[in-house]
Amino acid sequence: MAEIPTYVLNDGHVLPAVGFGTYPLRGEDGTAAILSALESGYRLLDTAVNYDNESEVGEALRRSGLPRDEVVVASKIPGRHHAYDDAITSVHASLERLGLDHLDLQLIHWPNPSRDLYVEAWRALVQLQKDGLVRSIGVSNFTEAHLRRIIEDSGVTPAVNQVELHPRFPQARMRALHERLGIRTEAWSPMGKRRAPLEEASVMQAAEAHGVTTGQVILRWHVQLGSLPIPKSADSGRQAENLDIFGFELSSDEMDAVSALAEDDGRLFGGDPETHEEL
Ligand SMILES: NC(=O)c1ccc[n+]([C@@H]2O[C@H](COP(=O)([O-])OP(=O)(O)OC[C@H]3O[C@@H](n4cnc5c(N)ncnc54)[C@H](OP(=O)(O)O)[C@@H]3O)[C@@H](O)[C@H]2O)c1
Repeated sequence: MAEIPTYVLNDGHVLPAVGFGTYPLRGEDGTAAILSALESGYRLLDTAVNYDNESEVGEALRRSGLPRDEVVVASKIPGRHHAYDDAITSVHASLERLGLDHLDLQLIHWPNPSRDLYVEAWRALVQLQKDGLVRSIGVSNFTEAHLRRIIEDSGVTPAVNQVELHPRFPQARMRALHERLGIRTEAWSPMGKRRAPLEEASVMQAAEAHGVTTGQVILRWHVQLGSLPIPKSADSGRQAENLDIFGFELSSDEMDAVSALAEDDGRLFGGDPETHEEL
């Protein structure tokens, strides 16, 4: 399997070009699935307070025996912890559950604009980074207005914005904005979850042409867009398959054909950051 390339973030730190989504892996089976992902070669684990599996992520990391500095551990502050002091406390509690002394990437999970406290949460992350408790800081599900507001307030541009992104919802506008602002786009539900276009003709044709699976075509499409996908799989075979996407290249016609699967409202569950409440 080809080596996993990396991205250098706007703060100088590095992320692997594909990561592992851990929701909803929990309990002993969850720990085993996360351990299997590490054994397959994943070096970025994406968790969140709201996934209720930070202790499983920490346990899998310890069982793997991998050196701490070889694995990027990312978590997310929930909406109910946006007030400044609550955000600081929340990250300390995440570290305790993970059994770690620092996080490599800390995000704000959703902006929850109805609470209007995400600016405070961002100030807290800026402070935690200065204190060395978190290495890189970023956001998730932020729109252009949310991004501009926190950047103006703090002078600090997020290293990452993790957004819903898959062939039915390719997020061209947000990707272009991220490019201009120097923010790395991370993709949640990168396969499209239950609406994954695994049987669409364009995806099947590209898979056949390259001798790969349809899942690998979708993840390769992300890589060539500059989007960092974090696929979840509980199955060790599919985990390995989802990482093995650096030995072939889609043509520009194949890329366009996958992007043409975009739908007017291709969001998976109506998760519009302006209105979605995730506390
Ligand atoms: N920031 C946010 O608001 C947010 C929101 C949602 C998700 N996330 C993050 O994004 C991660 C991934 O998103 P997701 O789990 O919603 O969706 P996803 O990764 O797009 O899809 C996961 C589903 O696809 C299946 N699958 C995985 N690889 C496959 C392959 N090669 N072929 C066929 N099926 C495959 C999995 O089944 P098996 O397990 O059986 O393989 C699972 O049912 C989450 O785990 C979480 O870390 C973040």
